[in-house]
Amino acid sequence: MKDFLKETDFQAHELAEVFALARDFKARRGRAASAVLAGQTWAMLFSKSSTRTRVSFEVGIHELGGNPLFLNRNDLQLGRGESVEDTARVLSRFVHGLIVRTYDHSDVVRLAASASVPVVNALTDFLHPCQIYADAFTAAERWAGAGGDLVGSLRGRKIAYLGDTCFNMANSWILGASLFGMKVALAGPKVYEPGPEIRAQLKAEGRAAEFHFTTDPVEAVRGADIVYTDVWASMGQEEETDERMAQMQPYAATSKLFAAAKPDALFMHCLPAHPGEEVEQAVLDNPRSVVFDQAENRLHVQKAILAMLAKGRAR
Ligand code: CP
Ligand code: NVA
Repeated sequence: MKDFLKETDFQAHELAEVFALARDFKARRGRAASAVLAGQTWAMLFSKSSTRTRVSFEVGIHELGGNPLFLNRNDLQLGRGESVEDTARVLSRFVHGLIVRTYDHSDVVRLAASASVPVVNALTDFLHPCQIYADAFTAAERWAGAGGDLVGSLRGRKIAYLGDTCFNMANSWILGASLFGMKVALAGPKVYEPGPEIRAQLKAEGRAAEFHFTTDPVEAVRGADIVYTDVWASMGQEEETDERMAQMQPYAATSKLFAAAKPDALFMHCLPAHPGEEVEQAVLDNPRSVVFDQAENRLHVQKAILAMLAKGRAR
């Protein structure tokens, strides 16, 4: 496997390796540095804003001995019409890997097809796999405990996903859960139910995902081990903000709704959050909210993903 464009690009046994590496990187942080990217430059080609993804990748590449090269799409000829394919071919002559954040998922697929170096999806409108891996690792750390079976601790768990159930985070949980052995209950307005694209993806991969959509948020959170939400208007949807606010209001992660999940359920949000909109501040501040652990774990898990891809290239 050359690229990491979607959750299922790693198989179950490789996921266990990613998590084991991430646990090790986290434990050793600040001590013995790993040099798996020594002498390498990884380009980060971003068409959207980012705090967590950009910083965690830049720091992570440094910590692996490599050199991150941040490229804003508009500063490249790509922004003036040079093709995705030629951009991929040219960058492949200079750098050892490409980390890409963009709108249309087919752009990362095309980049990866034309690049001779690994391509990592750092968020598209369709999927955000680096986030999902860090989220699953965050839950697994809690559930498996020190030295326990991280991947095994996820099996059979239920996640309730609230709000916009047809965009990148919801899609990624649906696809990711099919790898983790988790069940997903999604609750949101009917017009935002999971779309044909994610269903087609599951079908193409022959995956029987355990996901269920409902318009009833209480039904979704009942028995859930994780309650998850994301912003109601994602990057690129700013013009729809008012309409989305009105439609998604019943799906806000309130203390009352969180209390309807399992008593030890975790609260998760990929961040950035809009307190008072999709989530109550009290829920973000709840002792069972792990939102900042999720953010920190982006660093450790992405280092593990990069190490796996670099190893693959060396084979
Ligand atoms: N969660 C996440 O990807 O955050 P950024 O948009 O800040 O990178
Ligand atoms: N759904 C959000 C996720 C941000 C990390 C967006 O795409 O803007």
